[in-house]
Amino acid sequence: MPMDHYAVIGHPIGHSKSPQIHTLFARQTGQDMVYEAVLAPEDDFSGTVRRLVDAGYRGFSVTVPFKHEAFELADTLTDRARRAGAVNTLTVTADGLNGDNTDGLGLVADLKRQPTPLAGSRILLLGAGGAVRGVLAPLLAEGPARLHIANRTAAKAQALARDFADLGPVSGGGLGALAVESYDLIINGTAAGLSDETPPLPAGLLAPGAGCYDMMYGDTPTAFVRWGNAQGAAWTRDGLGMLVEQAAEAFAIWRGQRPRTAPVMEALRPRS
Ligand code: ATR
Repeated sequence: MPMDHYAVIGHPIGHSKSPQIHTLFARQTGQDMVYEAVLAPEDDFSGTVRRLVDAGYRGFSVTVPFKHEAFELADTLTDRARRAGAVNTLTVTADGLNGDNTDGLGLVADLKRQPTPLAGSRILLLGAGGAVRGVLAPLLAEGPARLHIANRTAAKAQALARDFADLGPVSGGGLGALAVESYDLIINGTAAGLSDETPPLPAGLLAPGAGCYDMMYGDTPTAFVRWGNAQGAAWTRDGLGMLVEQAAEAFAIWRGQRPRTAPVMEALRPRS
């Protein structure tokens, strides 16, 4: 292939914004490359990757539901991918496929653009699946006063909190046990938004000035963003910025140049 090829691999993949994002990055930085979306059969992620590597592809973004399989498939892993237990960026290297995870960095980069500082803040993180595991270490590295994980299945939140206790003041419990505390920032990492729902949450969780961030995004406000607005959050935001920031990190790994993200977010944001 005369030009370097990259792809995002997922199932489904039709609505992915990644090709548009990387194409805008390539244009902005003057890089000669092609980035496309590839649908992998649910039972053949590794075969799909192998075929693309054999065809000369240089790297892959990995999305739902393959991040754990990508972790298993990688020949080498970065420390942050190992800690996340998931891989969203694969790079073809001389030593085989390197697996990295840029999701947590992407979330933190977008949160830093919001009005609530992370250092010293009380953070509530909703959910205890792969998406939440992937962002815990970078969030704790920002030095929150506390980080509480609340999940429908309490035991999963408690287990995650134990796994990351060496990195900061993290606790875990069930959604039903949420009541007395208030938080400066609530981050939704559950899959409830896929069916346009929010986890059941009591009122009064938001401290004055608190914000709500949804790791999911949509062309219309997500259920959690609507919940935050109804609760009087000082600001609400969906996960489009996180998507663009994690992509910028992947692009930097592949091309050695970090693109500017603000103009790309501006170009993607649906006009209202
Ligand atoms: P992902 O990789 O996207 O994190 P996952 O590992 O399947 O996907 O995790 C999904 C998360 O969303 C879990 O925390 C799940 O709660 P349980 O651990 O109790 O299953 C949460 N979740 C999914 N649907 C939900 C809903 N309707 N209300 C509350 N939480 C929900």
